[in-house]
Amino acid sequence: MLDTEQLRASIRTVPDFPKPGIQFRDISTLLANPAALHTSVTLLAREVRSSGATLVAGMEARGFIFGAAVAIEAGVGFVPIRKPGKLPVETIGVDYALEYGSDRLEIDPGAIDPGDKVALVDDLIATGGTALAATQLVRMTSADVATALFVVDLPDLGGATRLRNAGISVTSLLSFE
Ligand code: PRP
Ligand code: ADE
Repeated sequence: MLDTEQLRASIRTVPDFPKPGIQFRDISTLLANPAALHTSVTLLAREVRSSGATLVAGMEARGFIFGAAVAIEAGVGFVPIRKPGKLPVETIGVDYALEYGSDRLEIDPGAIDPGDKVALVDDLIATGGTALAATQLVRMTSADVATALFVVDLPDLGGATRLRNAGISVTSLLSFE
């Protein structure tokens, strides 16, 4: 297991991507580092277990990488929260704003039972738009969001505060000011 500083060092910062002024916190270098990947998945799975979640939901695309691994480690199932037009069934969807654009997320409402407690997993929280849209979708199925888990928080963008204000417990392994 790596410590927090070692985990932080595994993330590459790319200035001005995808737009001027954005400091892009790139998890590709963490994913390529087996100790950093193992540490991230182990720590997030621990949070899933202690939250009592019955299911992990991950947001496309980077949330799929961590979410599925964390679900396996925690012994629960995984539900993909997808970008538009990808699911082969009648979906429910929510539009949302991003740090650098806007998008839409959709789920198969049949993939979540009303009694489920869902742990949201993504690589990073910035404005919280993605995680709030995912929360809305889960709540539309009458399930609960047990917790929201991220490898990286960008606290200056306020997403974790917005999620906590929506009544959700938030844990991030690292924060980049
Ligand atoms: C990134 C990241 C989070 C989201 C965080 O995904 O993986 O899902 O932005 O930003 P927010 O807190 O402001 O919503 P992106 O939409 O860039 O898509 P990707 O995973 O397909 O790269
Ligand atoms: N998603 C939203 N903002 C981001 C950032 N600054 N770095 C990496 N992914 C992001």
